[in-house]
Amino acid sequence: MNTEHVIRTFVEYFQDRGHRRITGSTLLSPPGDSVLFTTAGMHPLTPYLEGRPHPLGRRLVNVQRCLRTTDLDEVGDSTHLTVFEMLGTWSLGDYDGSRSIEWGHDLLVEGLEVDPGLLYATVFGGDERSGPDTDSLRTWQERGVPVELTTGENWWSNGPTGPCGPDTEIFVWTGEGPPQSTPTGDERWVEVWNHVMMRYRRGDDGTLGLLPQPNVDTGLGLERLVAVLQGKESVFETDLFEPWMRTVPSLWQLPEQPLRVVCDHLRSGIVVIGDGVLPSNTGRGYVLRRLVRRVLTTLWRDDPSRTLGDLPEELFRHTLDHFGQNGPSGRVREVLLDEELRFTRLLERGRHILSQPRFSTQLDEEDYSYLHDTHGLPRDLVLGLRGDALG
Ligand code: SER
Repeated sequence: MNTEHVIRTFVEYFQDRGHRRITGSTLLSPPGDSVLFTTAGMHPLTPYLEGRPHPLGRRLVNVQRCLRTTDLDEVGDSTHLTVFEMLGTWSLGDYDGSRSIEWGHDLLVEGLEVDPGLLYATVFGGDERSGPDTDSLRTWQERGVPVELTTGENWWSNGPTGPCGPDTEIFVWTGEGPPQSTPTGDERWVEVWNHVMMRYRRGDDGTLGLLPQPNVDTGLGLERLVAVLQGKESVFETDLFEPWMRTVPSLWQLPEQPLRVVCDHLRSGIVVIGDGVLPSNTGRGYVLRRLVRRVLTTLWRDDPSRTLGDLPEELFRHTLDHFGQNGPSGRVREVLLDEELRFTRLLERGRHILSQPRFSTQLDEEDYSYLHDTHGLPRDLVLGLRGDALG
Protein backbone atom coordinates (compact mmCIF):
# COMPACT_ATOMS: atom_id res chain seq x y z
CA MET A 1 0.00 0.00 0.00
CA ASN A 2 1.92 3.06 -1.17
CA THR A 3 1.64 6.55 0.28
CA GLU A 4 -0.53 8.01 -2.48
CA HIS A 5 -2.98 5.12 -2.00
CA VAL A 6 -3.15 5.79 1.75
CA ILE A 7 -3.85 9.49 1.16
CA ARG A 8 -6.54 8.76 -1.39
CA THR A 9 -8.21 6.13 0.80
CA PHE A 10 -8.29 8.53 3.74
CA VAL A 11 -9.62 11.53 1.84
CA GLU A 12 -12.27 9.58 -0.08
CA TYR A 13 -13.46 7.80 3.08
CA PHE A 14 -14.25 11.14 4.69
CA GLN A 15 -15.57 12.72 1.50
CA ASP A 16 -18.06 9.83 1.35
CA ARG A 17 -19.16 10.91 4.84
CA GLY A 18 -19.88 14.50 3.90
CA HIS A 19 -16.44 16.10 4.41
CA ARG A 20 -15.16 18.71 1.98
CA ARG A 21 -11.47 18.78 1.18
CA ILE A 22 -9.62 21.99 2.01
CA THR A 23 -7.00 22.86 -0.56
CA GLY A 24 -3.97 25.04 -0.04
CA SER A 25 -1.59 23.34 2.33
CA THR A 26 1.42 25.66 2.38
CA LEU A 27 3.88 25.45 5.25
CA LEU A 28 3.63 29.21 5.74
CA SER A 29 1.39 29.99 8.68
CA PRO A 30 -1.42 32.51 8.09
CA PRO A 31 -0.53 36.24 8.29
CA GLY A 32 -0.55 37.58 11.83
CA ASP A 33 0.16 34.14 13.30
CA SER A 34 2.73 34.01 16.09
CA VAL A 35 4.62 30.98 14.73
CA LEU A 36 6.69 30.82 11.56
CA PHE A 37 5.43 27.58 10.10
CA THR A 38 2.28 25.48 10.24
CA THR A 39 2.92 22.96 13.00
CA ALA A 40 -0.33 20.96 12.95
CA GLY A 41 -3.18 20.28 10.57
CA MET A 42 -5.59 22.28 12.72
CA HIS A 43 -3.37 25.32 12.75
CA PRO A 44 -4.86 27.19 9.74
CA LEU A 45 -8.34 26.33 11.06
CA THR A 46 -8.04 28.09 14.40
CA PRO A 47 -10.58 30.86 13.64
CA TYR A 48 -13.14 28.26 12.53
CA LEU A 49 -12.62 26.12 15.61
CA GLU A 50 -13.28 29.31 17.56
CA GLY A 51 -16.65 29.75 15.90
CA ARG A 52 -16.28 31.55 12.57
CA PRO A 53 -18.33 29.69 9.90
CA HIS A 54 -16.08 27.91 7.41
CA PRO A 55 -17.00 28.55 3.75
CA LEU A 56 -16.88 24.80 3.01
CA GLY A 57 -19.16 23.80 5.87
CA ARG A 58 -18.88 21.90 9.13
CA ARG A 59 -17.13 18.71 7.98
CA LEU A 60 -13.64 19.09 6.57
CA VAL A 61 -10.77 16.87 5.51
CA ASN A 62 -7.23 17.87 4.60
CA VAL A 63 -3.67 16.81 3.90
CA GLN A 64 -1.48 19.41 5.56
CA ARG A 65 2.28 19.65 5.47
CA CYS A 66 3.76 20.74 8.77
CA LEU A 67 7.19 21.77 10.02
CA ARG A 68 8.38 21.36 13.59
CA THR A 69 11.76 22.50 14.80
CA THR A 70 10.97 21.40 18.36
CA ASP A 71 11.67 17.80 17.36
CA LEU A 72 14.90 18.59 15.48
CA ASP A 73 17.13 16.61 17.83
CA GLU A 74 14.94 13.55 17.45
CA VAL A 75 15.17 13.52 13.66
CA GLY A 76 17.13 10.43 12.67
CA ASP A 77 15.19 8.08 14.92
CA SER A 78 12.52 5.93 13.31
CA THR A 79 9.53 8.30 13.47
CA HIS A 80 10.52 12.00 13.59
CA LEU A 81 10.82 14.24 10.54
CA THR A 82 11.26 18.00 10.21
CA VAL A 83 8.63 18.34 7.49
CA PHE A 84 5.88 15.80 7.80
CA GLU A 85 2.28 15.48 6.68
CA MET A 86 -0.88 15.24 8.69
CA LEU A 87 -4.09 13.82 7.38
CA GLY A 88 -6.79 15.69 9.25
CA THR A 89 -10.54 15.77 9.74
CA TRP A 90 -12.73 18.30 11.49
CA SER A 91 -16.19 18.44 12.85
CA LEU A 92 -16.86 22.14 13.40
CA GLY A 93 -19.66 21.87 15.94
CA ASP A 94 -21.15 18.99 13.97
CA TYR A 95 -20.78 15.26 14.90
CA ASP A 96 -19.32 14.22 18.26
CA GLY A 97 -16.12 12.50 19.34
CA SER A 98 -17.67 9.02 19.51
CA ARG A 99 -18.67 9.22 15.86
CA SER A 100 -15.15 10.35 15.00
CA ILE A 101 -13.64 7.39 16.87
CA GLU A 102 -16.00 4.93 15.17
CA TRP A 103 -15.13 6.23 11.72
CA GLY A 104 -11.44 6.30 12.58
CA HIS A 105 -11.52 2.71 13.80
CA ASP A 106 -13.47 1.51 10.75
CA LEU A 107 -11.10 3.24 8.37
CA LEU A 108 -8.01 1.77 10.01
CA VAL A 109 -9.38 -1.75 10.20
CA GLU A 110 -11.48 -2.01 7.04
CA GLY A 111 -10.08 0.63 4.68
CA LEU A 112 -6.40 0.36 5.59
CA GLU A 113 -6.43 -3.24 6.78
CA VAL A 114 -4.71 -2.74 10.12
CA ASP A 115 -5.05 -5.86 12.30
CA PRO A 116 -7.60 -4.80 14.99
CA GLY A 117 -5.72 -6.90 17.55
CA LEU A 118 -2.73 -4.56 17.21
CA LEU A 119 -4.58 -1.40 18.34
CA TYR A 120 -4.58 0.32 21.71
CA ALA A 121 -6.16 3.68 22.65
CA THR A 122 -5.28 6.19 25.32
CA VAL A 123 -8.06 8.33 26.79
CA PHE A 124 -8.14 11.38 29.06
CA GLY A 125 -8.61 10.22 32.65
CA GLY A 126 -9.72 13.58 34.10
CA ASP A 127 -8.05 16.27 36.19
CA GLU A 128 -8.80 19.79 37.37
CA ARG A 129 -9.36 20.95 33.77
CA SER A 130 -12.08 18.50 32.85
CA GLY A 131 -13.66 15.24 33.99
CA PRO A 132 -12.68 11.87 32.49
CA ASP A 133 -13.61 11.39 28.84
CA THR A 134 -16.18 8.66 29.48
CA ASP A 135 -17.71 8.90 25.99
CA SER A 136 -14.43 8.00 24.30
CA LEU A 137 -13.73 5.29 26.86
CA ARG A 138 -17.13 3.68 26.28
CA THR A 139 -16.82 3.91 22.49
CA TRP A 140 -13.44 2.13 22.48
CA GLN A 141 -14.71 -0.49 24.89
CA GLU A 142 -17.72 -1.19 22.70
CA ARG A 143 -15.28 -1.81 19.86
CA GLY A 144 -13.15 -4.15 21.94
CA VAL A 145 -10.09 -1.90 21.80
CA PRO A 146 -8.03 -1.85 25.03
CA VAL A 147 -7.73 1.58 26.68
CA GLU A 148 -5.14 3.22 28.89
CA LEU A 149 -6.22 6.30 30.86
CA THR A 150 -3.74 9.17 31.23
CA THR A 151 -3.97 12.89 31.95
CA GLY A 152 -0.81 14.70 30.84
CA GLU A 153 -0.51 12.69 27.61
CA ASN A 154 -4.15 13.15 26.65
CA TRP A 155 -4.68 16.88 26.58
CA TRP A 156 -3.94 18.70 23.34
CA SER A 157 -3.26 22.38 22.75
CA ASN A 158 -1.39 24.18 20.02
CA GLY A 159 0.28 26.62 22.40
CA PRO A 160 -0.26 28.37 25.71
CA THR A 161 -3.48 30.00 24.48
CA GLY A 162 -6.19 29.06 21.99
CA PRO A 163 -8.40 26.01 21.33
CA CYS A 164 -7.61 22.88 23.32
CA GLY A 165 -9.21 19.83 24.87
CA PRO A 166 -8.92 16.21 25.94
CA ASP A 167 -7.84 13.77 23.29
CA THR A 168 -7.78 10.08 22.54
CA GLU A 169 -4.76 8.69 20.74
CA ILE A 170 -4.65 5.53 18.67
CA PHE A 171 -1.54 3.38 18.82
CA VAL A 172 -0.46 0.44 16.66
CA TRP A 173 1.79 -2.33 17.95
CA THR A 174 4.97 -2.51 15.85
CA GLY A 175 6.94 -5.09 17.83
CA GLU A 176 7.65 -8.72 16.98
CA GLY A 177 5.11 -11.16 18.38
CA PRO A 178 1.92 -10.36 20.26
CA PRO A 179 1.39 -6.89 21.78
CA GLN A 180 2.79 -6.27 25.23
CA SER A 181 2.33 -3.67 27.94
CA THR A 182 0.54 -0.37 27.15
CA PRO A 183 1.29 2.70 25.00
CA THR A 184 2.99 4.58 27.83
CA GLY A 185 4.84 1.43 28.92
CA ASP A 186 6.45 0.26 25.66
CA GLU A 187 7.84 2.36 22.80
CA ARG A 188 6.87 -0.25 20.25
CA TRP A 189 3.36 1.13 20.52
CA VAL A 190 3.48 3.87 17.84
CA GLU A 191 0.97 6.70 17.96
CA VAL A 192 -0.70 7.21 14.60
CA TRP A 193 -3.91 9.16 15.08
CA ASN A 194 -5.06 11.73 17.55
CA HIS A 195 -8.73 12.71 18.02
CA VAL A 196 -9.09 15.91 20.02
CA MET A 197 -12.37 16.87 21.67
CA MET A 198 -11.76 20.54 21.06
CA ARG A 199 -14.32 22.10 23.35
CA TYR A 200 -12.21 24.60 25.27
CA ARG A 201 -10.23 27.74 24.72
CA ARG A 202 -7.38 28.90 26.93
CA GLY A 203 -7.59 32.69 27.14
CA ASP A 204 -4.72 35.18 27.30
CA ASP A 205 -5.28 35.44 31.07
CA GLY A 206 -4.80 31.68 31.44
CA THR A 207 -8.43 30.80 32.18
CA LEU A 208 -10.15 27.91 30.45
CA GLY A 209 -13.54 28.62 28.88
CA LEU A 210 -15.87 26.73 26.58
CA LEU A 211 -15.66 27.40 22.85
CA PRO A 212 -18.90 28.56 21.20
CA GLN A 213 -19.19 25.07 19.68
CA PRO A 214 -17.77 21.61 20.56
CA ASN A 215 -15.44 20.53 17.74
CA VAL A 216 -13.53 17.39 16.93
CA ASP A 217 -10.05 17.83 15.43
CA THR A 218 -8.16 14.76 14.30
CA GLY A 219 -4.63 14.41 12.98
CA LEU A 220 -3.03 11.30 11.58
CA GLY A 221 0.74 11.24 11.03
CA LEU A 222 1.02 10.09 7.42
CA GLU A 223 4.63 8.88 7.39
CA ARG A 224 4.27 6.89 10.61
CA LEU A 225 1.12 5.22 9.42
CA VAL A 226 2.70 4.37 6.07
CA ALA A 227 5.70 2.83 7.86
CA VAL A 228 3.34 0.69 9.93
CA LEU A 229 1.26 -0.33 6.90
CA GLN A 230 4.35 -1.17 4.87
CA GLY A 231 5.80 -3.15 7.78
CA LYS A 232 8.88 -0.92 7.92
CA GLU A 233 10.87 -0.17 11.01
CA SER A 234 11.32 3.50 10.17
CA VAL A 235 9.76 6.22 8.06
CA PHE A 236 13.00 6.36 6.07
CA GLU A 237 12.35 2.86 4.70
CA THR A 238 8.96 3.75 3.18
CA ASP A 239 8.27 4.62 -0.45
CA LEU A 240 8.34 8.32 0.50
CA PHE A 241 12.09 8.10 1.07
CA GLU A 242 12.83 5.37 -1.47
CA PRO A 243 14.59 7.63 -4.02
CA TRP A 244 16.58 9.27 -1.20
CA MET A 245 17.75 6.07 0.41
CA ARG A 246 18.56 4.60 -3.00
CA THR A 247 20.68 7.47 -4.30
CA VAL A 248 22.23 9.34 -1.35
CA PRO A 249 24.18 6.43 0.23
CA SER A 250 26.04 5.79 -3.02
CA LEU A 251 26.79 9.51 -3.36
CA TRP A 252 28.06 10.09 0.18
CA GLN A 253 29.05 7.29 2.55
CA LEU A 254 27.49 8.18 5.90
CA PRO A 255 26.49 6.20 9.00
CA GLU A 256 22.74 5.54 9.26
CA GLN A 257 21.79 8.34 11.65
CA PRO A 258 23.58 11.20 9.84
CA LEU A 259 22.32 9.78 6.55
CA ARG A 260 18.75 10.09 7.80
CA VAL A 261 19.36 13.64 9.06
CA VAL A 262 20.87 14.66 5.71
CA CYS A 263 17.93 13.19 3.77
CA ASP A 264 15.34 14.68 6.12
CA HIS A 265 16.88 18.17 6.13
CA LEU A 266 17.44 18.31 2.38
CA ARG A 267 13.94 17.10 1.65
CA SER A 268 12.57 19.62 4.16
CA GLY A 269 14.72 22.35 2.65
CA ILE A 270 13.37 21.61 -0.83
CA VAL A 271 9.77 21.84 0.42
CA VAL A 272 10.42 25.07 2.32
CA ILE A 273 12.03 26.66 -0.74
CA GLY A 274 9.17 25.26 -2.85
CA ASP A 275 6.79 27.22 -0.61
CA GLY A 276 8.67 30.42 -1.43
CA VAL A 277 11.17 30.84 1.43
CA LEU A 278 14.77 31.94 0.85
CA PRO A 279 17.67 31.54 3.31
CA SER A 280 18.20 34.56 5.54
CA ASN A 281 19.30 35.50 9.03
CA THR A 282 15.82 35.89 10.46
CA GLY A 283 12.47 34.15 10.64
CA ARG A 284 11.58 31.36 8.23
CA GLY A 285 14.68 31.98 6.15
CA TYR A 286 16.82 31.35 9.21
CA VAL A 287 15.17 27.98 9.84
CA LEU A 288 15.93 27.06 6.22
CA ARG A 289 19.52 28.31 6.55
CA ARG A 290 20.06 26.20 9.66
CA LEU A 291 18.74 23.07 7.97
CA VAL A 292 21.01 23.50 4.96
CA ARG A 293 24.05 24.37 7.06
CA ARG A 294 23.49 21.39 9.31
CA VAL A 295 23.53 19.19 6.22
CA LEU A 296 26.73 20.79 4.92
CA THR A 297 28.46 20.52 8.28
CA THR A 298 27.61 16.81 8.40
CA LEU A 299 28.75 16.20 4.82
CA TRP A 300 32.01 18.11 5.13
CA ARG A 301 33.05 16.47 8.38
CA ASP A 302 34.48 13.54 6.41
CA ASP A 303 34.99 15.04 3.00
CA PRO A 304 35.04 18.81 2.31
CA SER A 305 34.73 18.26 -1.43
CA ARG A 306 31.13 17.04 -1.15
CA THR A 307 28.65 19.36 -2.81
CA LEU A 308 24.88 19.64 -3.06
CA GLY A 309 25.41 20.11 -6.79
CA ASP A 310 25.73 16.30 -6.98
CA LEU A 311 22.16 15.73 -5.80
CA PRO A 312 20.24 13.92 -8.55
CA GLU A 313 17.43 15.80 -10.24
CA GLU A 314 15.12 12.91 -9.34
CA LEU A 315 15.17 13.91 -5.65
CA PHE A 316 14.03 17.44 -6.38
CA ARG A 317 11.28 16.32 -8.72
CA HIS A 318 10.05 13.52 -6.49
CA THR A 319 9.80 15.87 -3.51
CA LEU A 320 8.21 18.80 -5.34
CA ASP A 321 5.72 16.51 -7.09
CA HIS A 322 4.74 14.77 -3.88
CA PHE A 323 3.99 18.10 -2.22
CA GLY A 324 2.19 19.44 -5.27
CA GLN A 325 4.77 22.20 -5.79
CA ASN A 326 4.86 22.79 -9.48
CA GLY A 327 7.67 25.34 -9.75
CA PRO A 328 10.87 24.51 -11.64
CA SER A 329 13.26 22.29 -9.70
CA GLY A 330 16.22 24.19 -11.17
CA ARG A 331 15.36 27.23 -9.08
CA VAL A 332 15.31 25.19 -5.88
CA ARG A 333 18.70 23.71 -6.72
CA GLU A 334 20.07 27.21 -7.37
CA VAL A 335 18.92 28.38 -3.95
CA LEU A 336 20.64 25.43 -2.26
CA LEU A 337 23.86 25.92 -4.21
CA ASP A 338 23.88 29.63 -3.49
CA GLU A 339 23.56 28.88 0.21
CA GLU A 340 26.36 26.33 -0.04
CA LEU A 341 28.61 28.95 -1.60
CA ARG A 342 27.80 31.53 1.06
CA PHE A 343 28.51 29.04 3.80
CA THR A 344 31.81 28.04 2.18
CA ARG A 345 32.89 31.68 2.08
CA LEU A 346 31.77 32.30 5.63
CA LEU A 347 33.80 29.33 6.84
CA GLU A 348 36.87 30.48 4.94
CA ARG A 349 36.56 33.94 6.44
CA GLY A 350 35.93 32.45 9.87
CA ARG A 351 39.02 30.23 9.74
CA HIS A 352 41.13 33.17 8.66
CA ILE A 353 39.89 35.42 11.45
CA LEU A 354 40.13 32.75 14.13
CA SER A 355 43.73 32.05 13.19
CA GLN A 356 44.69 35.44 14.64
CA PRO A 357 46.68 35.14 17.91
CA ARG A 358 43.96 37.06 19.76
CA PHE A 359 41.64 34.05 19.40
CA SER A 360 44.11 31.29 20.21
CA THR A 361 43.06 31.04 23.85
CA GLN A 362 39.70 30.74 25.62
CA LEU A 363 37.10 33.12 24.12
CA ASP A 364 35.00 35.35 26.36
CA GLU A 365 31.61 36.98 25.76
CA GLU A 366 33.25 40.09 24.33
CA ASP A 367 35.07 37.96 21.73
CA TYR A 368 31.85 36.22 20.73
CA SER A 369 30.03 39.54 20.37
CA TYR A 370 32.87 40.99 18.32
CA LEU A 371 33.02 37.94 16.02
CA HIS A 372 29.29 38.05 15.55
CA ASP A 373 28.72 41.78 15.19
CA THR A 374 31.82 42.66 13.19
CA HIS A 375 32.40 39.52 11.15
CA GLY A 376 28.97 37.87 11.02
CA LEU A 377 30.24 34.68 12.68
CA PRO A 378 27.61 33.15 14.95
CA ARG A 379 28.69 31.46 18.16
CA ASP A 380 27.85 27.89 17.06
CA LEU A 381 29.92 28.36 13.92
CA VAL A 382 32.86 29.70 15.93
CA LEU A 383 32.58 26.76 18.31
CA GLY A 384 32.51 24.37 15.33
CA LEU A 385 35.53 25.95 13.71
CA ARG A 386 37.51 25.99 16.95
CA GLY A 387 36.43 22.41 17.57
CA ASP A 388 37.90 21.52 14.17
CA ALA A 389 41.07 23.43 14.90
CA LEU A 390 41.50 22.02 18.38
CA GLY A 391 40.24 18.56 17.63
N1 SER B 1 -4.28 18.79 16.64
C1 SER B 1 -4.01 17.40 16.91
C2 SER B 1 -2.58 17.04 16.63
O1 SER B 1 -1.87 17.81 16.04
C3 SER B 1 -4.93 16.54 16.10
O2 SER B 1 -5.02 17.03 14.82
O3 SER B 1 -2.17 15.97 17.00
